[in-house]
Parts: sequence; C-alpha cells; structure tokens
Amino acid sequence: MTSEESLFPRKTNSMNRRFFSKFLALGTGSVGLMPSDSDSTEKTATGGEDNPDSTVNNSLKFNPLFGQVPACVADFQILAKTALPRATYEYITSGSTDEVTLHENLAAFRRIRILPPLLAGVDRVDTSTSILGQSISMPILIAPVAGQSLFHADGVLGSARAAAAAHTILGVSSSAGNSVEEIAAASSGPKWFQLYVPKDRGVTRQLVERVHASGYKAIIVTVDLGERKDADLRNRFALPPSVLRKHLIDIGFPITKDMSYSDLLAFNEKAWDLALDWKFFDWLRSVTNLPILLKGVLRPADAQQAIALGLDGIIVSNHGGRRLDGVPSSIEQLPKIADVMDGKAELLLDSGVRRGTDVLKAIALGAKAVLIGRPSAWALAAEGELGVSKVLSFFREELILAMQTSGCPSLAAIKKPLLMM
Ligand SMILES: Cc1cc2nc3c(=O)[nH]c(=O)nc-3n(C[C@H](O)[C@H](O)[C@H](O)COP(=O)(O)O)c2cc1C
Repeated sequence: MTSEESLFPRKTNSMNRRFFSKFLALGTGSVGLMPSDSDSTEKTATGGEDNPDSTVNNSLKFNPLFGQVPACVADFQILAKTALPRATYEYITSGSTDEVTLHENLAAFRRIRILPPLLAGVDRVDTSTSILGQSISMPILIAPVAGQSLFHADGVLGSARAAAAAHTILGVSSSAGNSVEEIAAASSGPKWFQLYVPKDRGVTRQLVERVHASGYKAIIVTVDLGERKDADLRNRFALPPSVLRKHLIDIGFPITKDMSYSDLLAFNEKAWDLALDWKFFDWLRSVTNLPILLKGVLRPADAQQAIALGLDGIIVSNHGGRRLDGVPSSIEQLPKIADVMDGKAELLLDSGVRRGTDVLKAIALGAKAVLIGRPSAWALAAEGELGVSKVLSFFREELILAMQTSGCPSLAAIKKPLLMM
C-alpha cells in the first residue's frame, strides 16, 4: 500500500502523474514491488548504500564474474545489484529523501570501537538466547520485509525455511507476498507477524485471529511513518495488478473478481489506518493474547509509554532509514532507551546491522537481539533461500569470533565496558 510496496512504471504522462500522487498520499503499509520496465531512462537515484559517499561496502572489488563466493553482507549487496532490475534493487537499498538516516545508521555503528581484554581464555561461546519465551540459536532475527516475491522466486517462503533452519525468528511483513497461512505452511520455525492495520477493525480482528491460528508467536506493530524514497519515485514503482490483488485478498479485504486495477488501487489507498494512536493497543489487547512488540521506537518516552501499556517488547528502529529522514540512528538511541526499560519488556534493535561486531555492540548497549532487513533481502535476491541461510551463517560466525576475541563465552557476558564511545 505504500512505497514499501511495489510499483511499476507507466508510460503516459497522465499515468505517471497519477502514480506520483499516489506515492505522495501513501504513508505506511504494504505490498510488493514490480521492477521498472524502463531501465534505460536516465536516473539519478542515489541507490542507497552503494553511492560514493557510502560508509558501507568494503568489498567493491568483489566481482561475481570471477567465480568468487560471497563472504559477507556487502558481497550479497553487489550480487543483488547484479541479479535485480535496477528499480527493484533501489527499492530494497535506498532510503528516504537525502538518506541522512540511512547513512547515519551505518556510520554510528562504525564510530563505536571495541576494546577487548587480552588473554581471556575463551574458546567455545554460546550464542543462544530466549526472547518472549522462545529459545533461538542466536540473537539475530530476520526483520519484516515487504515484496519478497519480487526479489526471488523463493520469496518469503524461502526466508521462512532459512530462518527455521538457523533456529531463529522470522518477522513476517503484512506485505511479504504470501498469506499468513502459506508462510506458516512453509516452515514450522518461530514467526512474528508484523501488522499494518486495516481501517476496518473487523478485517484487522480476523487477520489477527488467523495469525494466532497459524501458530505465529507474537505481533509486531510498526508505527513509524514518513516514507518518501526518491529512487522509487523516479523509477515509478507501482503495484502490479496480480500482486496488489493477492496482497489485499491475503489480508482479508473483500476483493471481488470484477474489481479493475484502478478499483484495487483506490481501495488500497483508503484501506489502511495511518493515524493510529496509543488507544489502538487497548483494542489489540482485547482481541488477542499474543505478545505485542512496538516497532519504530526512537524516544525513551515512547518506550516508557509502551511499558506502561503492558506491551511485551520494543524494537528500536528507524525502519532502516526508510521513513522520516533525519531521525537519529537506532544504535545511538539504544542506550537511552535501555536505561528507561529496566528489563520490563524485551528490547530489540534494527537498522544498520551489517556485521557480527554490530550485533556485539547492540547487545553491549542493552539489546537482547537484533533484526536484519536489507542483508537478508539482498541475500534472497542473490541466491534465494540458500542466500538467506548463508547470510545468517555469516552473522553467526562473525558474532562467534567477536565474542571469542572479546572474552565473552555467553551473550550475558557482553557488557558496555567492552566498548569505547
Ligand atoms: C525492502 C524492505 C521492505 C521492508 N518492508 C517492511 C515492512 O513491510 N514492514 C516493516 O515493519 N518494516 C519493513 N522494512 C523495514 C525492516 O523491517 C527493518 O526495520 C529495516 O530493514 C532494518 O534496517 P536494515 O535494512 O538496515 O537492516 C522493510 C525494509 C526493507 C529493506
């Protein structure tokens, strides 16, 4: 429903104007994307993290044509760029407007130094943990990501199988590309459903009931707003009819066969509640006893409010720099939020996690676990389910090395004094 959604370019000026306005109107939500059919047109998209100012990507010399194998997240980014139409790659990779927050997410992690004690005598380390009572093998989860069927034929079903094989949790976007039941059938691994909220609370309620019945372990409510991605506007992404139709049906909206594409677009624009307030959580609590996590928290006061309402978890996140540009990095806000949380709810972080050392830093600053967005999306685009498995392995191996080197046999041993800030 939003530009977290897909888009395909239209050729007439009137259609272009229409899609452009549509994007201005969209604020939050769902749906998948369709690659541009006009890659030859001149575009000046910054292209997200791989622009010349980027602080990421230390492996630009990596070239899949030379038969090398990916060794890190940055390699998967390059492979995804090779594999995908430009518009789809930029949909995944870019951030809102000037991408200040996108770049700050990465820079802020890099500014933090690790100062490990020597001769700590640590050989084996245990990366396992438990979140909301769910045991997982490592503190690295897959973030909810829309439009996965456009990245690779494996889609979110491949991500679900890879997460289950790695014994970690999959965040399932409201707009992942498959129904909650299809994703549940793909693997028995633990899943959290990320809810964008239909205005019709009857539809919302039925969706939440289906999520529960399908065995999902928690609901993530994403509340950050303000998306405006220049690259997507230039590329004129729009929801392809079949993707839009399936998405709306998967949510449970009353979509009929006789609805034209423009009917579907008009329906989609009005279907979602973009003006939630805190009262929504009283309503959500009244219809489900699943744990609820709030995603998009950057202010300590909002974390306190979530705790006061009895929510079960906070995800410190700026949506990977895809919402309002200019907000601070998640990792900068994490210690301030950890201070007010006082262990009263689960504390997680996403936005800018690219290395095992980033995971170590987030845990040292108070997070129980992190979620990865673009890393798993690039890996899925490059190699499908196998790619997602590989990227999870890279994170696990890098975290193990960081823990061994820092003298931390367990996650509980990772403490703030390890860091120089
Ligand atoms: C292509 C893409 C689609 C996304 N779709 C959603 C979504 O549907 N719902 C949501 O809550 N977050 C969505 N996100 C945000 C991620 O859940 C996560 O917050 C973000 O990617 C973390 O930053 P990172 O990409 O730097 O790891 C999306 C991110 C990407 C890259």
